[in-house]
Amino acid sequence: MPSVAFEPQIRPDPPVWPQSVVTVVGNPRPGSRTAAAAASVAELLASELGTPYRIDELVDLVTFASAIFEREAVERAALESAIDLVTSASVLVLATPVYKGSYTGLLKSFLDVLPPQALAGAVVVPVTVSAAPSHKLLADQHLRPVLAELGASVPVPGVILEERDLEDLQVVLSTWIRTNAPIIQATTLALQPVPEPTPAR
Ligand SMILES: Cc1cc2nc3c(=O)[nH]c(=O)nc-3n(C[C@H](O)[C@H](O)[C@H](O)COP(=O)(O)O)c2cc1C
Repeated sequence: MPSVAFEPQIRPDPPVWPQSVVTVVGNPRPGSRTAAAAASVAELLASELGTPYRIDELVDLVTFASAIFEREAVERAALESAIDLVTSASVLVLATPVYKGSYTGLLKSFLDVLPPQALAGAVVVPVTVSAAPSHKLLADQHLRPVLAELGASVPVPGVILEERDLEDLQVVLSTWIRTNAPIIQATTLALQPVPEPTPAR
């Protein structure tokens, strides 16, 4: 029997999944506690999911707010790259303080410039911060119909924070991450497009 030479097989590393955890902060105040809380949620979640965390995947809308409202603004390039980042995210952490019993106008204005179904394929995690305990659920409740309109999957409860939670955020988040990270991971996998079948010869 003739001997057959086998090429050594190089197995590629299994893909990291989900591939990105992008963060959007809709606070019109720069350098906010909401932004810091969102970054912590994204970093801890990425670590739990085994996804590399990149700080340049945190989009602070206030840094290019004028482009959201004016077509020909100087900050247009920043807006366009934010839209690209957001529409290609597998997990999107979407953070807002509670303003006037809802989420902020800045966040709504950004969501308004996204194309139709821009978040289909993404798992969105709302992160909200309120001052009043009685208002803590309001931003999350108002965000959900808008996220549905954009095609997002929101399979887990949001990270609903009051200002006093910010003092001990890691403790508050640890249970949330442990409970919800597996559901987020499973949903990102389920959202993967099914590959086209290879035609039979
Ligand atoms: C214009 C404005 C409106 C606000 N409206 C509410 C509100 O309706 N309910 C509430 O609980 N907190 C409200 N707050 C308080 C913020 O939600 C709270 O201070 C939050 O922690 C702000 O986060 P930051 O520290 O990241 O700016 C409001 C704050 C501002 C500036």
